[in-house]
Amino acid sequence: MSKVAFITGAGGYIGSETALTLAKQGIKVAVCDINPESIERTVKKIEEIGGEAKGYVFDITDSKDVDRVVDEIVNDFGRLDIMVHIAGGSARIAGPNAKYVPLVQQEDYVIDQVLKVNLYGALWASRAAARVMIKQGEGGKIINFSSAVAFNGLVGSVDYAASKGGVISLTKALAKELGPHKINVNSVAPGIVMRPEETGGSDRAVNTNYLGIKCLPEDLANMVEFLVSDKAKFITGQTYVVDGGRGLGMKGSN
Ligand SMILES: NC(=O)c1ccc[n+]([C@@H]2O[C@H](COP(=O)([O-])OP(=O)(O)OC[C@H]3O[C@@H](n4cnc5c(N)ncnc54)[C@H](O)[C@@H]3O)[C@@H](O)[C@H]2O)c1
Repeated sequence: MSKVAFITGAGGYIGSETALTLAKQGIKVAVCDINPESIERTVKKIEEIGGEAKGYVFDITDSKDVDRVVDEIVNDFGRLDIMVHIAGGSARIAGPNAKYVPLVQQEDYVIDQVLKVNLYGALWASRAAARVMIKQGEGGKIINFSSAVAFNGLVGSVDYAASKGGVISLTKALAKELGPHKINVNSVAPGIVMRPEETGGSDRAVNTNYLGIKCLPEDLANMVEFLVSDKAKFITGQTYVVDGGRGLGMKGSN
């Protein structure tokens, strides 16, 4: 029987690639995001390769909306085996006027939104998915996206660092609670995954890691593919840093 994955932020840069990668493995994908156009693009990409996907518009910061979407996914696909919470970001997630400034200058609404999408989102999505997986009684996989910033900090992103550090702690604690249900809980922490459209992006993405190559969204998608596979059945409570060794010395950063 095909597995079913609930992916948040599946319209985004890393989320879309992850959705496609899992679909290539025969996994049915619930493509969830706040942005309807990006959902459509991801669903189309999956359908073009003969995969199965359905889009769901939702707001990860609203626990009731998360519960609603998970109910719909189970109604539509009949089960839920995998949850990957990728929706997230630093200050820009709070809107076009949000700034990357030191904490002493940061506004309430930016701190609120960064915590709500990254950390509360991980809690809401993990809780909703775990409830279904426990009831199903066949185990499951839960993955939340952290960031290399959680380990090393970043000027102008104290709220983001705190939210992504929380994801690492959540991962450890939830792995203990869900272990008896054969549900693996892990986290993935990217370094800099540069968007092609960002000016000077490829230089920064290359210069800040020790391999001297650009991190592509598939580098993260491949890690998720491994963690949701049977090959990773004995791995839980871990955070995998995918940063080209950047965290070894935060090369080229503040
Ligand atoms: N890109 C990087 O360099 C990098 C580095 C470290 C960590 N990360 C983490 O990886 C994840 C994905 O990053 P990305 O670069 O693909 O970002 P992205 O902006 O391309 O994707 C994020 C997605 O989340 C969705 N989203 C935002 N708010 C939402 C909400 N309230 N409800 C539902 N969906 C919402 C957006 O519409 C978007 O599609 C994030 O958690 C980010 O913090 C990224």
